[in-house]
Amino acid sequence: MFENTTFCITTFGCQMNKHDAERLSGLMSSLGSVPVQTNAEADFSIFVTCCVREKADERLMGTVATMKNDPVRPGSPFGKRFVAIGGCIGQRDGQKLLDQLENADVVFGTHNMEALPHLLQEAIEGGMRRAELVDGRAEFHDDLPEDREHPWAAWLPITVGCNNFCTYCIVPYVRGRELSRPIDEIAQQAQAYVDAGVKEITLLGQNVNSYGRDLYGEPRFAQVLDVVSKTGVERIRFATSHPKDLTDEVIERFATLPNLMPALHLPAQSGSNRILKAMNRRYTVEHYRELIEKLRKACPDIALSTDIIVGFPGEPEEDFQATYDLVNEVGYNQVFTFIYSKREGTPAAEMQDDTPREVIQERFDRLVDLVQRNAERLNLEQNQAGVVLPVLVTGASKNDPSILAGKSPRNQTVHARVPQGMSASDYAGSIVDIRIDEAHTWYLWGTML
Ligand code: SAH
Ligand code: SF4
Ligand code: F3S
Repeated sequence: MFENTTFCITTFGCQMNKHDAERLSGLMSSLGSVPVQTNAEADFSIFVTCCVREKADERLMGTVATMKNDPVRPGSPFGKRFVAIGGCIGQRDGQKLLDQLENADVVFGTHNMEALPHLLQEAIEGGMRRAELVDGRAEFHDDLPEDREHPWAAWLPITVGCNNFCTYCIVPYVRGRELSRPIDEIAQQAQAYVDAGVKEITLLGQNVNSYGRDLYGEPRFAQVLDVVSKTGVERIRFATSHPKDLTDEVIERFATLPNLMPALHLPAQSGSNRILKAMNRRYTVEHYRELIEKLRKACPDIALSTDIIVGFPGEPEEDFQATYDLVNEVGYNQVFTFIYSKREGTPAAEMQDDTPREVIQERFDRLVDLVQRNAERLNLEQNQAGVVLPVLVTGASKNDPSILAGKSPRNQTVHARVPQGMSASDYAGSIVDIRIDEAHTWYLWGTML
């Protein structure tokens, strides 16, 4: 059925969605379908979607709707392109997507990715347009094969789902309750990756810090870091951390584990206690500041990044100002700034929201401006010209095959020219020493040694 067919997967959303896409790709490949880069070449267009903000919804609807009149690929065995929608929007909207998008054939959710082949089969054989969803507890999809985007980097989910119910957030509703993967399985998987040549493992969870709560509290996330570190993998990263659950023992690992990279994403969301409370974040800005202090003590050159929401319902200027002050004071290498987006079904959607759009936009622009200035200053401070950094090469830079792109331990993008006669892609996946010559706002420029 799937032999001699092609598929294209498009993902929107977080690393968890991207990892799911790797599993879907592995599943389709194992059935004989061949991955292609564009929808024009594909018999199956598969979307793995995000619904965390309105923009992500719009993007999916727009993309699928405009595909309606695209010609089928030459040589298509079906004379038709099948469109399948999964991921978080699939889980949230189910049948509604089939009603709204006349060219969508199949919808599946976050808990039943393995349903895709049989749903496609029904569509091919019986012309059925069907949405199949499973409710409930999250699960791991490690029974599905995976097609990793890069052979040298792997995402390793250690928890799935979320129990936090931040009042603005849809994730707990589309990802289910939190579930921790047994630590032995994590260790085995990490070792298998290392044996296969993986250089960087990123541990994933909506809140990795609460790892183990559902396992009677033991083992905890710090022990997960220990077992993964023991595999000898070159680089370990993790995302995401909820500040309320970041413990001293995890902070200490930044000082003691040599392969834990000096970079942490610690979403603050707001710098105002009143707004944090309304968001149900369950920490105070004082606690957050204390964490930053401890982190800098354990690892003085740590690169910090965060998420900030501007325009939470009822947020007045003074609370925004508190956020602005926090961002300014901490000095982040990167800040992901979001304008609050109302998500039906969440508690914040019921809150009074009367701040004019223009006011929110103006605050947002002010914050973005601050973030850029700080990032540039920090990049300069942390990367004095002449310092040598081990850089994990990800490939060639977008515009020039003789310039490599890679990541420093602090996860900053680094560019350098490769030696004459070499192509940057030859270095993909290796760690090379680069002497930094210049620091720019969003990247470092250096010389390969
Ligand atoms: N579990 C992770 C990721 C959550 S989604 C975490 O807790 O950090 C990523 C980010 O999207 C969040 O940190 C938040 O800043 C933002 N976000 C979530 N819901 C949003 C909404 N309704 N409007 C605007 N931004 C939102
Ligand atoms: Fe959403 Fe909060 Fe869970 Fe993150 S911790 S996924 S922001 S509910
Ligand atoms: Fe989006 Fe789903 Fe991730 S809603 S942020 S893709 S968990």
